[in-house]
Amino acid sequence: MVTGASSGIGAAVARALSREGAHVALAARRSEALREVQAGLDQQCGAAKSLVMPTDITDRRQVKSLIARTEQDLGPVDILVNCAGVMFYTLMKNLQEDDWERTVDVNCKGALNCIGAVLPGMISRGRGHIVTISSDAGRKVFPGLSAYSASKFFVEALSQGLRLETVGTGVKVTTIQPGNVATDLLSLSKDVEALEMYGQPGGARVLDPEDVAASVMHALRQPEYVAVNEVLVEPRDEPV
Ligand SMILES: NC(=O)c1ccc[n+]([C@@H]2O[C@H](COP(=O)([O-])OP(=O)(O)OC[C@H]3O[C@@H](n4cnc5c(N)ncnc54)[C@H](OP(=O)(O)O)[C@@H]3O)[C@@H](O)[C@H]2O)c1
Repeated sequence: MVTGASSGIGAAVARALSREGAHVALAARRSEALREVQAGLDQQCGAAKSLVMPTDITDRRQVKSLIARTEQDLGPVDILVNCAGVMFYTLMKNLQEDDWERTVDVNCKGALNCIGAVLPGMISRGRGHIVTISSDAGRKVFPGLSAYSASKFFVEALSQGLRLETVGTGVKVTTIQPGNVATDLLSLSKDVEALEMYGQPGGARVLDPEDVAASVMHALRQPEYVAVNEVLVEPRDEPV
């Protein structure tokens, strides 16, 4: 199950999973974009099944239906990759309160909704892997990204707690902490002042979504007794 599978990192993770022969459920709001990603999967790997599920992860009922439909069509969810997320460059003094709220709704509550929908099944089956695409902003706060950084500190804390509470259950919990990746994420920001101050490209070669997907696959490929808890993956010339 991959959320945020309609573009960027989520689409790359879905392709990587499908290449490995996994059945993949693709979730995000834009059904047309999901179908395009699915068409790419089917061309790559005939054996792996896939399912497109238009879902707003901020709506807990939609997330529960997503899991129910996935289990019905593809079987139990062994792997959840929480990729769906938003990021708004904005200065706190500019009071873009709708963007703050959206950040919390999608990045924090959305991740909770998805984890809540798969966790009981994983525990009862004695296996499962929850991977959340956090950020290097989950380790260090960036100016212009206060609310976003806070949301990524939230998913880091949530994942740490979940990891500690699921010891002995067979469930693994991983966060991936990418630096700048070439995706559409930056295009959401409308606070011109924040973008000018902090959102300009630094000139370094940034990551491709496939580089982040490779980190996800590294965490997933480990033997049962090995847990990759956190992966910080950044452009070489943009260390935190
Ligand atoms: N790009 C970077 O530099 C970077 C760095 C570190 C971490 N990340 C993290 O990587 C993740 C993926 O971002 P990306 O860079 O791949 O950007 P992206 O291409 O804009 O992808 C964001 C995804 O989230 C989905 N999404 C947003 N709101 C949603 C909602 N309410 N319900 C369901 N899906 C929703 C979008 O799909 P729909 O619009 O179709 O719903 C889209 O598939 C995010 O969590 C982001 O914070 C990105």
